[in-house]
Amino acid sequence: MHLIYSVEEMQRHAEQQRCAGYKLALVPTMGALHEGHLSLIESAKQHASHITVSIFVNPTQFGPGEDFDRYPRPLENDLQLLNKYGGVDVVFVPPTEAFYSTGTHEHQMWVHAPSLEQHLCGPHRPGHFRGVTTVVTKLFHSCQPHLGVFGLKDAQQFLILQRLVHDLNFGIELVGVPTAREPDGLARSSRNRYLSVEERAQAIVLSKAVEAARRQILEGEQHPQPIVDTMLQILAEAPDANVQYAELVDTKRIQPITQIQAGQEVLAAVAVFFGKTRLIDNAFVQIPAV
Ligand code: PAF
Repeated sequence: MHLIYSVEEMQRHAEQQRCAGYKLALVPTMGALHEGHLSLIESAKQHASHITVSIFVNPTQFGPGEDFDRYPRPLENDLQLLNKYGGVDVVFVPPTEAFYSTGTHEHQMWVHAPSLEQHLCGPHRPGHFRGVTTVVTKLFHSCQPHLGVFGLKDAQQFLILQRLVHDLNFGIELVGVPTAREPDGLARSSRNRYLSVEERAQAIVLSKAVEAARRQILEGEQHPQPIVDTMLQILAEAPDANVQYAELVDTKRIQPITQIQAGQEVLAAVAVFFGKTRLIDNAFVQIPAV
């Protein structure tokens, strides 16, 4: 496993591997790796012959008051975990200055899709997706992968990145990996470690809510409101949950649905605070064509 810090060295390395005929996959992460990340790496191995994992806590995707400063950065543990897991060829760990040489406030060049940010996490995290699309562009240009592997837990991020690679002709295939879950259904997340014992027990309401929405949709409910109401009722079972949103959107435009149609793909998604810890979960539901 090779550790690379500089963009130039990463680009040189990627070019050599491409010339040698390898199929390159990039698994972008912000570190604090857990089982969920390992499932992304596992999926990368199935699709590619050279795997790069990037570790970069991207400052521009954290809004004011978010947890950038307290975001965990256990780099040594992450490297040990990757070494032990095996199959990772390169870990790319750029310093902040490599991507934001003028500092984040003075940074001028952004990749941005405002119309895809009007719902779900977008309005609650101003600037977040602009930070994500910009840093993923930088990571793609640095690592030059044939494919990028992302978790479907960050559903809106995945849908926006699909539009990024399509609309800006990146020529990179995106692979979306289903959410890794704890045995009781809670989606795995680096942020779960902040939950108290009581909050952790209550946090199962997120997966219960989106699974109930999936069932109701597949049973034929065509109107969004009863489905949203179901999600809200289930979230209300957790006394410490502070619900930020429970929404049903179409996966193409990320806009609320007025009526569910045959052949459509919809996303049921929730975001909930337990104290300062914000958790999200979702279910992608493909409506059968008639
Ligand atoms: O999903 C994440 O961990 C981050 O948003 C990503 C894609 C690594 C960009 O910083």
